[in-house]
Amino acid sequence: MSRLALINIEQLVPVSGTAPKRGKLMMELNIITNGCVIIEDSIITYVGTMNDLSEDIVLNNNNGVTTKIIDCSGKTVLPGFIDSHTHFVFGGYREQEFKMRLAGESYMDILKAGGGIFSSVNMTRKAEFDELYHVGMNRLNHMLSMGVTTVEGKSGYGLDKDTELKQLKVMQELNKEHVVDIVSTFLGPHSVPSDYKGRGKEYIDFIINEVLPIVLEENLAEFADIFCEKGVFSVEESKYYLLKAKKLGLKCKIHADEIVSLGGSELAVQVGATSADHLLAVSDQGIKDLADSDTIATLLPATAFSLDEPFAKARKMIDSGCSVALASDFNPGSCPTHSIPLIISLSALKMHMTIEEIITALTINGACALNKQNEIGSLEIGKKGDMIILNKPSIDFMAYHLGMNLVEQVIKNGKIVWISK
Ligand code: NIG
Ligand code: FE
Repeated sequence: MSRLALINIEQLVPVSGTAPKRGKLMMELNIITNGCVIIEDSIITYVGTMNDLSEDIVLNNNNGVTTKIIDCSGKTVLPGFIDSHTHFVFGGYREQEFKMRLAGESYMDILKAGGGIFSSVNMTRKAEFDELYHVGMNRLNHMLSMGVTTVEGKSGYGLDKDTELKQLKVMQELNKEHVVDIVSTFLGPHSVPSDYKGRGKEYIDFIINEVLPIVLEENLAEFADIFCEKGVFSVEESKYYLLKAKKLGLKCKIHADEIVSLGGSELAVQVGATSADHLLAVSDQGIKDLADSDTIATLLPATAFSLDEPFAKARKMIDSGCSVALASDFNPGSCPTHSIPLIISLSALKMHMTIEEIITALTINGACALNKQNEIGSLEIGKKGDMIILNKPSIDFMAYHLGMNLVEQVIKNGKIVWISK
């Protein structure tokens, strides 16, 4: 058995709970001053104050077990961050299209002209498995250094059977090799490929009949996702696909109301999706439906920033009682960053979320968006020992130090896996 004890923690932020926090409850972090966390093997066995801790728990040497101690005086300890929406396995980059966007062309016009997602599809189809594996590995290392201990990753840059499966298999291998846990999502309907142009429904049928059965048989994904957007997949097509995927055993997510208010959020609630993501253009009805449901509203502020679009109305959503999660949306086009510090600062300054709400959104609500709330997302007895130590004495430094990484150490499954130099 191995035992790790984090002692003298200036500010311990357990977050607590195994259910999504909605509305006002997003403020509740259950902060403990002068705290301690103990992890035995990979599981948390103590969360509380130093005062309530009997000395033996930390120091005892029963059965030859020595306890590794980290003194966290002047530091903050939080659950590991959960980045619940990314597209981190892709070939090539689209820096020239970024310049076109800077010169005034819109994201959707670039896509309509055969670039955008299609550019990344071409590069990902050409990329060898090993190449995708290595770029994926590097990206995971970088995410870990910013405190991410679980990440979701989507396919969707193949739009054909082989490449979609290749992306998912890369993530399956990375999940075995890298300490960051990966939750995979099948995003076959990310766009209609050129050979199915104008025949979106037929492409969806191809996916349902030819690709999804293999994804399920080989256990390659837990979620199904679709880009429900004007000019991509309609609400009807999205509903058709998600209900089929759900029947086959996948949980659902939707890229909803990103550019145009189409009704993807309302659909997410209707089909019982685990999350509705983006929501820049969500309608008032969509917010109400989300607030009355168990569907998590996942906001991706770095995408709004990169697309130079108005930010999602996080304040209105939280004040209406939604459960909000935050994620990076890291991808080569609309959001070429997985910077958690940037997301924290944008959420505070541009979406007017409090730091407490931001932490909830990146921890327990992110876990709920991945249906992993019983294992991760908060620090409590029985959950995985996934946590981060910040080099500052309180959470109030997090948004304030704009875009700066405050993570000093990352602990995953009870082991120290990253220390800042
Ligand atoms: O979440 N909008 C759809 N999908 C991604 C972007 C994909 C891309 O541009 O490569 C998103 O923004
Ligand atoms: Fe996305």
